[in-house]
Amino acid sequence: MKAIILSGGKGTRLRPLTYTGAKQLVPVANKPILWYGLEAIVAAGITDIGIIISPETGEEVKAKTGNGERFGANITYILQDKPAGLAHAVKIARPFLQDSPFVMYLGDNLIQNELNQFLDHFKEQQMDSLILLRPVANPSAFGVAQVDAQGRVVHLVEKPKVPPSNLALVGIYFFANTIHAAIDRIQPSARGELEITDAIQNLIDQQKHVEARQIEGWWLDTGKKDDLLEANQIILDTCLKSDLRGDLDAKSQVFGRVQIGAGSRLINCTVRGPVTIGKDCQLENCFIGPYSSIADQVTLIDVELEHSVILQGATITDIHQRIVDSVIGQRAHLKTAPQRPKALRFMIGDDCQIELA
Ligand code: G1P
Repeated sequence: MKAIILSGGKGTRLRPLTYTGAKQLVPVANKPILWYGLEAIVAAGITDIGIIISPETGEEVKAKTGNGERFGANITYILQDKPAGLAHAVKIARPFLQDSPFVMYLGDNLIQNELNQFLDHFKEQQMDSLILLRPVANPSAFGVAQVDAQGRVVHLVEKPKVPPSNLALVGIYFFANTIHAAIDRIQPSARGELEITDAIQNLIDQQKHVEARQIEGWWLDTGKKDDLLEANQIILDTCLKSDLRGDLDAKSQVFGRVQIGAGSRLINCTVRGPVTIGKDCQLENCFIGPYSSIADQVTLIDVELEHSVILQGATITDIHQRIVDSVIGQRAHLKTAPQRPKALRFMIGDDCQIELA
């Protein structure tokens, strides 16, 4: 059994963060989203893993993730020169996959369930494909499945205007080598992509063995700001363990589950978990509230913050209102005058969202 993780795409819905980096490397609880999928695959016993990368962000993904040694995996990087669809990604991964069955994992997806239960079922039943479904409120934003009374998939359609059900396709798929012939039989969709949804439909049309399982735990597709904040909240809620390595002065207090990395210094701060703070941060006179993730080398002075994600090297000083529901990019500077500001001076990148509420 092998696995491929898709880590290409432009990440348009996470701009401006994705102008300078891959969306799959945006951190959730201070760890790149991509690594959660990687770890879930290794936990299911699959160590031969291909990562599909794009020309724009591939080098960054490679540099950060490495050859897989630290995950206990062997990673092969596969370049997809244009975003021509998920089935196209499988096609170019064929030399890596050969005739092996495989898991395909979209690098910006996270699920609560372990993969093992699905993998065992897929293998035991010798399926051509096992797909995962979850009811959603906005099925038009996803691939959608129509399932009969016995739970068999009858019909699949990509981002339909009039969805046949509320069951969205989760971005984790199990395939036998028969998917390659199905991909060879399909044509690009109206948006010009080779859709994996069409390839699975083709397997169904050929009377192949395709089953669906509904997942019960949470599923996060971290493509947008609010999804990212929700993913951050859920991961901090469910996975964070207390671990205090930085220096806290006598006036600083920590409540609940909090992680503080080595080399970080807190002076006169209150931290109410779940919160994770990276390495080499400088925090002075701050209140850091629940569901905040602060990356490495961040400086916060006279700041109140909660339910927010601050990326590496950002500096925030003298903000007198509480910062909430915010994502602050790498090396960003945010500052106001010690008293109520008389003027606001901005240098804001394209596609930023600023709300002075
Ligand atoms: C892709 C798939 C879609 C699936 C979704 C899950 O869409 O094409 O069928 O429901 O992932 O995240 P994308 O997010 O690439 O638009």
